[in-house]
Amino acid sequence: MAKLYVSFENGNPEQVIEFDPFLAPFHHDGEPGSILDILLGHGVELEHACGGNCACTTCHVIVTQGMTHLTENEEEEDDMLDKAPGLVSTSRLGCQAVMAEGEVKIRIPRHTINQQV
Ligand code: FES
Repeated sequence: MAKLYVSFENGNPEQVIEFDPFLAPFHHDGEPGSILDILLGHGVELEHACGGNCACTTCHVIVTQGMTHLTENEEEEDDMLDKAPGLVSTSRLGCQAVMAEGEVKIRIPRHTINQQV
């Protein structure tokens, strides 16, 4: 089993999603087996204004542990991430980072690009 720990900067309670990678993908938005796909497949909301197509950054998440269990960033993801508010060295787009094993911890930032004025 793989585990995805999700904390929220907006104060929502932490969630722990335990899933069988062999049952992925969960047929939601984003790359099959991506963090976005896993979250939506387990009833946890993550903004995804472009529908998981690497075109908006609203699915920005900060990986706090387990980066090696995620697929590597593609250039397209890095280019898009540059536009995300609150970018850090372990930022990823939830719709692009695919997780197939191990334990990963992420934090969902309080603000997305859609909330900036
Ligand atoms: S949902 Fe738009 S970039 Fe991920």
